[in-house]
Amino acid sequence: MMLKNDRLLKALKREPVDATPVWIMRQAGRYLPEYRAIRAKAGAFMNLCKTPELACEVTIQPLERFDLDAAILFSDILTIPDAMGLDLQFIEGEGPHFAHPIKTQADINKLGTPDPEQDLGYVMDAVRLVKKTLDQRVPLIGFAGSPWTLATYMIEGGSSKEFRQIKKMAFNEPAMLHHLLEKLAASVALYLEAQIRAGVDVVMVFDTWGGILIPRDYQEFSLRYLQHIVQALQHHNVPIILFTKNGGQWLEMIANTGCQGVGIDWTVDIAQARARVGHQVALQGNMDPAILYAKPERIVQEVNYILNAFGDHPGHIFNLGHGITPDVDPDNVKVLVDAVHNFSSSSSSSSSSSSSS
Ligand code: CP3
Repeated sequence: MMLKNDRLLKALKREPVDATPVWIMRQAGRYLPEYRAIRAKAGAFMNLCKTPELACEVTIQPLERFDLDAAILFSDILTIPDAMGLDLQFIEGEGPHFAHPIKTQADINKLGTPDPEQDLGYVMDAVRLVKKTLDQRVPLIGFAGSPWTLATYMIEGGSSKEFRQIKKMAFNEPAMLHHLLEKLAASVALYLEAQIRAGVDVVMVFDTWGGILIPRDYQEFSLRYLQHIVQALQHHNVPIILFTKNGGQWLEMIANTGCQGVGIDWTVDIAQARARVGHQVALQGNMDPAILYAKPERIVQEVNYILNAFGDHPGHIFNLGHGITPDVDPDNVKVLVDAVHNFSSSSSSSSSSSSSS
């Protein structure tokens, strides 16, 4: 069966499109009153993730409001550590919390590799239900966290500002940390392969915390494992997007992993990013999510700047540089999405395939 809207897949192949595809990180989330209603009904956040009918419903919600070119599975990156037995809780106003964080080599030895259909079957069921419900309207993006980013939550026990525990392990016990990262890379690869078999059209790996590392440590502790995942998935021929937040300085290295798309945040200018990677990969990004607090004219101006700066080439997927924040007015998201389509279809920027530089 063919997708009715294949702009995202075309952009990932760096093929011309009739308008630039757009989706929003965390597009199903608390800024939508209809999400908050389902979330309240589900009680705990993880109940929402673990109930395929509810996960499916909130996955589709943003598509009913906005002319988005992709759906992203409603789930979380922390499903893998939860399945490994760390016992994930989301504490209201505080974020994720693990009852059993990783402290010692013995803790790492105890971790198994989750069987995706057994231990994370609720995710695969959600993928199958969303695919059926979407009926090929738009592609479905599956995702996972990067090994490094998952390890930060598992070792710190939750969100962190300074990453003391994991950095201490990286500096004092690097072999121990690598052992954990290897287990995570194997688990993430199996998890994404299962999502692909269940029907996702694209996969994205979120490396939210790679950007806190010393550059040579980024290569050693994060990039190496991203590379492993790309290699493990390559034979499926499903496009892979890698996103290291604050990873602008490593764009070329990320592009060289063999992925099809690279996510960029707003701390890099997209014109310079495009000049550095050329036609090798698609770029996804990169509007500052805080622009959504501005008035509509300012949002449109920023959209036009980004589309112009990317320039007259195929291979751009419009997105924010990080997740949308909970207190944004949904009407402003409509302004953004419509501006992306209007501007990119009226200019020559998306319909021309002139450049391959
Ligand atoms: O719409 C989508 O983008 C799909 C769903 C999605 C969620 N989390 C739902 C969610 C995706 C792709 C994620 C990824 C995720 N989860 C990341 C990587 C991307 C990023 O934002 O950097 C990370 C680091 C997490 C871990 C996580 N999940 C944290 C730190 C938190 C708490 C902070 C917060 O925003 O509340 C979550 C909870 C979470 N995951 C929410 C949503 C919609 C909010 C929970 C709620 O409804 O109370």
